[in-house]
Amino acid sequence: MRAIRIHQYGGPEVLTVEEVPQPEPGAGQVLVRVCAAGVNPADWKIRAGYFKDFMPLQLPAILGFDFSGEIEAVGPGVTKFKKGEQVYGSAMGTYAEYVAAKIAEIAPKPSSLDHVHSASIPVAAQTAWQALFDAGGLTAGKKVLIHGASGGVGSFAVQLAKAKGVYVIATGSGRNQEYLKQLGVDKPIDYEKTKFEDVVRDVDVVFDTQGGETQQRSWQTLEKGGVLVSIVQPPPETEAAKYGVKGVFLGRQPNAEQLVEIAKLVDAGRLKTTVEVVLPLAEARRAHELSQAGHVRGKIVLTCG
Ligand SMILES: NC(=O)c1ccc[n+]([C@@H]2O[C@H](COP(=O)([O-])OP(=O)(O)OC[C@H]3O[C@@H](n4cnc5c(N)ncnc54)[C@H](OP(=O)(O)O)[C@@H]3O)[C@@H](O)[C@H]2O)c1
Repeated sequence: MRAIRIHQYGGPEVLTVEEVPQPEPGAGQVLVRVCAAGVNPADWKIRAGYFKDFMPLQLPAILGFDFSGEIEAVGPGVTKFKKGEQVYGSAMGTYAEYVAAKIAEIAPKPSSLDHVHSASIPVAAQTAWQALFDAGGLTAGKKVLIHGASGGVGSFAVQLAKAKGVYVIATGSGRNQEYLKQLGVDKPIDYEKTKFEDVVRDVDVVFDTQGGETQQRSWQTLEKGGVLVSIVQPPPETEAAKYGVKGVFLGRQPNAEQLVEIAKLVDAGRLKTTVEVVLPLAEARRAHELSQAGHVRGKIVLTCG
């Protein structure tokens, strides 16, 4: 099969198109014919070697986590899925024509979407869900500040929070202010013009998708007892204590039940996905350059067909 592999860590140039053996589905796995693979910032961070100390790759390795496709074969003991089913989810090595995926990490894809749009959802939407509700404990009537709301995770976070009845304040660049309103943001903030900490107070949850000074400047916007949830940088306990709030780092956990709930929201028209860039698998380098530049609206997806 055709796949995008790396033989060493490095820049986008280490991504190469190669013919490699098709994987075999093991126990608890299915073999999926990948129709589309979503691109996440984690993909280029892994390629660049940022995670090599705690998540070393066995090189050469196929990159990519998100996929949507069709089940080609089931592994030993698998009865929940059968050949021909259309599924989406996450697995290791989705920049390929086929991937072996654990059944605990997949679900039937949203029936109202094509594979390109379905492939854009799993990692980003699950991360947003887990940050807002599992780590942040958001419920109806509460108030959240979402940073990077026009990005992959942020776009889902805004809509999931609104669907729960949460008041949403969100940051994005000038180009994306209208987009933030379309997503449902109650109070959009153009970070190029306004310091968010000057205009935001007493939120229950800050969702930090940026880290660095954005995280540092966010503490003061929280109400006492509030929570800062970061998906990029562990919030220092000393800072949280100073403001009488909690800081939590969230690493997404694959969760098939959440994928089922997310697909239901999509099919009910309550959760939309924005795919700004679609490229053929062979252009994975270009996809990484765009992801790394950090200003794509919504998602980038690679097509395998
Ligand atoms: N821990 C986990 O499990 C986990 C899971 C998923 C993602 N992540 C991480 O979370 C981060 C976001 O992921 P993503 O997929 O949403 O990335 P993305 O799609 O690249 O989105 C990033 C967004 O950040 C916005 N942005 C840039 N500078 C900003 C600033 N100063 N203030 C506010 N927004 C700003 C950009 O919007 P504009 O163009 O409007 O500036 C862009 O849309 C990445 O670092 C990723 O690696 C972690």
